Amino acid sequence: MTHDELVDAMRRAIKLLRENTTDLTLSEHREPAEHYTDDARSASERRLVMDAPQLVAYAGELPQPGSFATKEVMGQPILLTRARDGRFRAFQNICQHRQAPVAGGCGIAKRLACPYHSWTYDLEGAVVGIPGEEGFPAARADGPRLTELPAEERAGFLWICLTPGAAIDIAAHLGDLDAELASWDIGAWTPIGEKRLDAAIDWKLAIDTFSENYHFATVHTTTFATVAHSNCTVFDSFGRHHRLVFPMRGIEDFAEVPEAEWKPLEKVAVIYAIYPNVVLSVTAVNGEIFRVYPTDRAGHSVTFHQNATSLDVSTDAARQASNDIFEYAHHTVRDEDYALATKIQANLSTGLQPTILFGRNEPGLHHRHAVLAAELEKGRMST
Ligand code: FES
Ligand SMILES: [Fe+2]
Repeated sequence: MTHDELVDAMRRAIKLLRENTTDLTLSEHREPAEHYTDDARSASERRLVMDAPQLVAYAGELPQPGSFATKEVMGQPILLTRARDGRFRAFQNICQHRQAPVAGGCGIAKRLACPYHSWTYDLEGAVVGIPGEEGFPAARADGPRLTELPAEERAGFLWICLTPGAAIDIAAHLGDLDAELASWDIGAWTPIGEKRLDAAIDWKLAIDTFSENYHFATVHTTTFATVAHSNCTVFDSFGRHHRLVFPMRGIEDFAEVPEAEWKPLEKVAVIYAIYPNVVLSVTAVNGEIFRVYPTDRAGHSVTFHQNATSLDVSTDAARQASNDIFEYAHHTVRDEDYALATKIQANLSTGLQPTILFGRNEPGLHHRHAVLAAELEKGRMST
């Protein structure tokens, strides 16, 4: 967001707080509980996520020519590379010999050697060495390559499609959010780590926990609620994506301060829901990603939680401080949000109550679920 946009959001947040309210939808909404538990719907949603462009990494995870990184996306093993030409490429991380993953973790390399029989690959995906190659005359003649996936670097992030040969157009995918995401310059921030959460929570329920701050005062009593206001959100939608601006405590004091002196990033947190399955939470110093994936079972999801920081972390102490912040954020998500959501999922699965309720004060929930319903309907019409 530009400074002017942040000032505008801060102005709106202060007004909401003064009026003791929040951005509201016109009416409440009842969402069928079975949307979180039904296997058939879950399969449709999985297809929809599978077909959507996927934000998979910070651009900074491939900092220089020769960088590579590995990811899991919708259960698929993915290899990301930046070859000598500086271009970002993505591949299925599956060896063309006997399907071992050719790389793990991340690092810098000229070539990647498969750990099983040491076929070697360049970072453009071509097999460049086969030990005992007389064993593979036909395969060798074919010029074996890793299966490449559509890939684009944009707005500070690395994006892929899981379908080889599919078109990818992230500017079109992001629409009005494109310039705004780029404005944070998160591609230049330092990635801090990645943590995995396997959860007995539907993927939508997982993202629901990031879609309102109505629960802060009760779920995050000793954590977020000590620094952020509850039940006060500035809400904006950007096509299928949305943005929440959460006011921090003390923001209201700025009502008496000239706007020219405002430092809005010290007093707001900005949370994006990037359609269909990614949450991005940005403050002055942290840009957290939550990549949330449905699995082949309704009511289960996998979340990859990552952080990147705008701070200089070149000293051990600074690095440790950033790691500690990431640990703290992860702890609150895992032990507060997801712990409670697991109990909700168990209740939903009993089928005892037919609906859940989205309040007027929870516009993010309304927006995401309406978008998903429309996309599922579009999918039904086209088949
Ligand atoms: S499986 Fe990769 S070299 Fe054999
Ligand atoms: Fe929460």
